[in-house]
Amino acid sequence: MNMSDSLTKQSVISQYLPETVTPLGDTIEAVFAPSNIALCKYWGKRNSELNLPINSSLSISLAHLGTQTRLSVSNEDQVWLNGQRVAVEDSFARKVIAFIDLFRGAQGLPVRVDTDNNIPTAAGLASSASGFAALMLAIDRFYGLKLEPSQLSAFARMGSGSASRSLYHGFVEWQMGVRDDGMDSIALPLVTRWNDLRVGLLKVSSDAKAVDSRSGMNRTVATAHLYQSWPLQAAADLARLHQAIAENNFTQLGETAEQNALSMHATMIASWPPLLYWQPDSVAAMHNIWQARAEGIEVYLTMDAGPNIKLLFMADAEAAIQQRFPDMDVIAPFA
Ligand code: PMV
Repeated sequence: MNMSDSLTKQSVISQYLPETVTPLGDTIEAVFAPSNIALCKYWGKRNSELNLPINSSLSISLAHLGTQTRLSVSNEDQVWLNGQRVAVEDSFARKVIAFIDLFRGAQGLPVRVDTDNNIPTAAGLASSASGFAALMLAIDRFYGLKLEPSQLSAFARMGSGSASRSLYHGFVEWQMGVRDDGMDSIALPLVTRWNDLRVGLLKVSSDAKAVDSRSGMNRTVATAHLYQSWPLQAAADLARLHQAIAENNFTQLGETAEQNALSMHATMIASWPPLLYWQPDSVAAMHNIWQARAEGIEVYLTMDAGPNIKLLFMADAEAAIQQRFPDMDVIAPFA
């Protein structure tokens, strides 16, 4: 066993905490973190205890779409999701409480967690990203930890990898880092703003997915020979995205994001047992997007570990695309 195998979330986090972690007051004002969509995806871990990725990734945050979370003192641990109490033995509640335990300790005072998503939970719209980012911010405030932004990002990443990026708005890069303890595997915001960029959300299904992204990634890394090409693809795409953002080149941004997403899905399909998150309606929407492009409307797609499609386009194409996809929700990430 080498050193990095023995590191746990707890052993890394505890080095940055005061000796005693207790609430500053009875409650806090709810804190918000946005959801995000990766243009260069995170797929595969080099350390699954700490969620350290095999490749760096780059995302765009979804402005007002995300999660709001509040912590309060309570006489027993309680988790409330979208106004409904969740049983403590439920897997969602267990993940939330286990994450809080990393900071307050398993013997810590009981808390009530109120968390509200304005995006469909577990439907490939990355609610775990905004969920863990908002929970991290709420923990920092409730216990008065005053953690640095890099530490908040590193610790949110231990809840869910993509949560490292949900601490920021706009374009965000999660640098994979090289350290065993992952303290350099953190997200940083890019300064560039694209006021005319639009993200369209096309809901194909809001059912919870059958295979979560953690198991999906592990299966792909363990069984798909095709996965060997993924780190090279991701590194090349990341460089192309940086160039596209710097040069304000939407065509390059869209083409790169679409090819990156489909390359990731190709590695999933090449896993065993095969992993195909697409539904027939996802494929129909893809063809519709490609048809629109053939007709001269500049629109690209990306997809995460789920059946839903996200469209990328500029404001001047919005009306034409909305006509093709009347049910699509449009987000202006920089508005
Ligand atoms: O953060 P996780 O464990 O839910 O993984 C996210 C994986 C993808 O959404 C498919 C890609 C990404 O970079 O967000």
